Amino acid sequence: MESPARLSAIFVFLFVLVGALVCTRLLNSSTETLISTTSSQVPVLTTKTSQTSPNKTGQIPQNPSSQFEIPLNCTAYNLTTTCPSNYPTTFHPEQDPDRPSSPTCPEYFRWIHEDLRPWAHTGITQDMVERANRTANFKLVIVNGKAYVEQYEKAFQTRDTFTIWGILQLLRKYPGKVPDLEMMFDCVDWPVILSGDYDGPNSTTPPPLFRYCGDDSTLDIVFPDWSFWGWAEINIRPWETLLKNLEEGNKRSKWLDREPYAYWKGNPTIAEHRQELMTCNVSDQYDWYARLYAQDWSREAQEGFKRSDLASQCLHRYKIYIEGSAWSVSEKYILACDSVTLIVKPRYYDFFTRTLMPLHHYWPIKYDDKCRSIKFAVDWGNSHKKKAQAIGRASSKLIQEDLKMDYVYDYMFHLLNEYANLLQFKPRIPQKAIEVCSEAMACQAEGLEKKFMMESLVKGPAVSEPCSLPPPYDPASLFEVLRRKESSIKQVETWEKNYWKDHEQS
Ligand SMILES: *[C@@H]1O[C@H](CO)[C@@H](O)[C@H](O)[C@H]1NC(C)=O
Ligand SMILES: *[C@@H]1O[C@H](CO)[C@@H](O)[C@H](O)[C@H]1NC(C)=O
Ligand SMILES: *[C@@H]1O[C@H](CO)[C@@H](O)[C@H](O)[C@H]1NC(C)=O
Ligand SMILES: *[C@@H]1O[C@H](CO)[C@@H](O)[C@H](O)[C@H]1NC(C)=O
Ligand SMILES: *[C@@H]1O[C@H](CO)[C@@H](O)[C@H](O)[C@H]1NC(C)=O
Ligand SMILES: *[C@@H]1O[C@H](CO)[C@@H](O)[C@H](O)[C@H]1NC(C)=O
Ligand SMILES: *[C@@H]1O[C@H](CO)[C@@H](O)[C@H](O)[C@H]1NC(C)=O
Repeated sequence: MESPARLSAIFVFLFVLVGALVCTRLLNSSTETLISTTSSQVPVLTTKTSQTSPNKTGQIPQNPSSQFEIPLNCTAYNLTTTCPSNYPTTFHPEQDPDRPSSPTCPEYFRWIHEDLRPWAHTGITQDMVERANRTANFKLVIVNGKAYVEQYEKAFQTRDTFTIWGILQLLRKYPGKVPDLEMMFDCVDWPVILSGDYDGPNSTTPPPLFRYCGDDSTLDIVFPDWSFWGWAEINIRPWETLLKNLEEGNKRSKWLDREPYAYWKGNPTIAEHRQELMTCNVSDQYDWYARLYAQDWSREAQEGFKRSDLASQCLHRYKIYIEGSAWSVSEKYILACDSVTLIVKPRYYDFFTRTLMPLHHYWPIKYDDKCRSIKFAVDWGNSHKKKAQAIGRASSKLIQEDLKMDYVYDYMFHLLNEYANLLQFKPRIPQKAIEVCSEAMACQAEGLEKKFMMESLVKGPAVSEPCSLPPPYDPASLFEVLRRKESSIKQVETWEKNYWKDHEQS
């Protein structure tokens, strides 16, 4: 038996040894983030280092393993109520010469070029930006890495708060990398910049307006919605956490063991097409293989959200997605299950959904014949189990891999970067704007808002560069993508027609 004194001596020795290894790694790691600050004062840094042992062959582990954390200091903020000036303002993770350049971003990033195409030849003038003020909730300006907001109108719930919070986290993640810009943001559901108003021979260039979704007849620029940082009113946690919960929830039951029906739960009162969907619910007379449930959010709020846990909603082989008053933030939660997502023909898109391929990531459901379309989809899947499971897995993989929070930030980064490249003027701080920073928002927040902000706080500068932006589609390949989508949907419609012809004859 070792004596306690000896044991603690060994412990201290190990501790020192680990410490020494960590220091060596810090000094020599070529994936280290170099940090410089504007003020001579050294920022408070804590270093988190993973326990990778040094590589005996002298090679550097692929995984960047240490990150500087810069905590949010509300004591300091409350004393001065001014945004801190000692956050790093430059970003250059030292690139390992042997390391390949950043991986290419997922395919959906290519739509950034499409969304900015209306200004590709003209650029964006100050006047164009100002003209977007008609419906904007706020103007956000970035100058020298600091953010300023001029609020025109408070948004519904905390949409604007968490959208601005998200942009502030982007600035923490990539200090000094987000260029100066001025942008107008509208937090209301529906796109408003009608392309028809801007396509005449003498028409003006459209005003660039950011919002959460668009459709085929509008030119609004799509941007990730507030729910990625949390939706406090209905207890939806920040995406980074929720994505992990969803992954665990999804693992709890195998596809084959799930209920062989199509599940939906949501608020049916907000749109007529959702009420139509409710008529497909199972009844004494008929079973369309749909199991539909109304979500009463105000009762849920009173009862502590016990029945709205998204991670325990991967219990059916099929899950229905149907738009609300416009796009719905629920789409990513539904696609995250291995269940086959049945998408009722949507009108709107958000920043990532244009990458979804029918029959690969989801099963298309007709808008004007929902019940029969759902019954056919469920019947098809239950008799083509392998193919159905592959569709379910393709969507959960897409969400887990291509829509992880790092890529959401990279999408914002590239979109804002490309947008700023088009600006024909030097952004300046508006007179009525106030400076915003994570401290100014989080130190005063309370309850769930505060909790979600602290949970989604970017801890410090990233250890690697953003992914590299893929090039625009050329007209032929864009046409090919759209054609492929269309023909898969047509294919399903043909199968469905034949199915019902057979069923009605027998
Ligand atoms: C850093 O690495 C070099 C060679 O890879 C080695 O010669 C040097 O001693 C290392 N420095 C420290 C502090 O470990
Ligand atoms: C050491 O380097 C080799 C060769 O690159 C690599 O295969 C191995 O995973 C590395 N080991 C560690 C612990 O990083
Ligand atoms: C800072 O001030 C806010 C109120 O403005 C208060 O809620 C918060 O607890 C304070 N934080 C600290 C760390 O003093
Ligand atoms: C926060 O700021 C206060 C006042 O400047 C300072 O005394 C304290 O050490 C800081 N705390 C941390 C964790 O950096
Ligand atoms: C919107 O911009 C126009 C100029 O383009 C300006 O006259 C108007 O006052 C602005 N409205 C608001 C609410 O700022
Ligand atoms: C466009 O402007 C030109 C020159 O100002 C004018 O001659 C022409 O009629 C206008 N066309 C339309 C469709 O308004
Ligand atoms: C759908 O049917 C099920 C089973 O009868 C029922 O529990 C559920 O409340 C119904 N949904 C709606 C929205 O009426």
